[in-house]
Amino acid sequence: MTTDFEALRRRFPVLERKTYLNSGSYCALADTVRDAVNNYMDDRLAVGANWDVWITKNESVRALMAQLLGVTSDEVAITASASAGINALASALDFSGTRNKVVVSDFEFPTNAQIWHAQERRGARVVHVPRAADGYIPLEHFERTIDEHTLLVAVTHVCFRNGARLDIPGIVKIAHARGARVLLDTYQAIGALQVDARALGVDFIVGGMLKYLLGTAGIGFLYVRDRWIRELVPTHSGWFAQQNIAAMDIFANRPSESARRFEAGTPAVVNCYAAEAGLKIVLEADPRQIEARVRALTRYCLRQLIDIGWSAVTPLDDARRGPMVAVPARNTAELFEHLTAADIVTSFRDNNIRVTCHFYNTESDIDRFVAELERLRGQFAPETP
Ligand SMILES: Cc1ncc(COP(=O)(O)O)c(C=O)c1O
Repeated sequence: MTTDFEALRRRFPVLERKTYLNSGSYCALADTVRDAVNNYMDDRLAVGANWDVWITKNESVRALMAQLLGVTSDEVAITASASAGINALASALDFSGTRNKVVVSDFEFPTNAQIWHAQERRGARVVHVPRAADGYIPLEHFERTIDEHTLLVAVTHVCFRNGARLDIPGIVKIAHARGARVLLDTYQAIGALQVDARALGVDFIVGGMLKYLLGTAGIGFLYVRDRWIRELVPTHSGWFAQQNIAAMDIFANRPSESARRFEAGTPAVVNCYAAEAGLKIVLEADPRQIEARVRALTRYCLRQLIDIGWSAVTPLDDARRGPMVAVPARNTAELFEHLTAADIVTSFRDNNIRVTCHFYNTESDIDRFVAELERLRGQFAPETP
């Protein structure tokens, strides 16, 4: 069935007032996500502590997340953030042997490098894979860095600075051939790109619900491939990570048999309401169709920019790009303010304005952004080398 994206767009009221190109920072709010949070508040007023219902929300988020990733619910932990998932995984790894190297790329969001550097106190050696002169990180660079001492390759799917997408199946092939496992940070991809855990072949995936998954801040997930769950015992733990949450045993740690062992304390119930509603929209819209639409929008944006002679730093090749187009400019902070004043919502990192597209965006949104750039060209276009 073909998704009616125009009808879906009408469910995001902010789009009536704003040209919203900022889902890579925080998604636009959908009617049902807002209603879900309000329902939670109503429940608190009417019932008080409605734990029996609230706990089912956490399980519903887990099931929907599993559906989206194409895995089983037992392989999914619902966490407070992507960082919480990475920390729980790191706590279960042993860096005391000769296989103690963690390979990260120069495209990482800080958290997926800082947490691995934090493991240096536990014996980890962190090695960065650099980008090439063209700004991309080719497979050869991973080929050179991943070796028989590599325990984990921890990489982002899409770079939060420039929108470039790494060749994940290629990286997985190299890593697995050398006995290393792969953690994928999907935060800048999932919900806008299809993330099929089995097809990608990765061992672990983290991400969160506030961007393209249409939920809210304060909730994330960690996927752990079934074959690794039982051999990994996190020291980052808590009562919600136990086999029997109701056991209240203070004399032993008995981790769940499922990926729930990577969780910690009381779930963020209100965030579960929002995340459940957001995930339902993404699944209803069909991730495959979303990806096609987002690809077409970013391609359109790149072409429009070329037409006005203001090229992006994001790869033109569809396979090397996610939902973001990063546009270099002079005085990005000031340009961002101009765009905001014109009701065009973007974000910026370094010398780039980031335009991030979701299925609710249209070519007209891109046209408005590009027209505004053109108007401000004299002040902000980058110097040509
Ligand atoms: C690629 C990527 N990873 C991780 C994060 C942060 O995750 P969290 O704050 O949930 O730990 C972000 C947030 O912007 C991100 O873009």
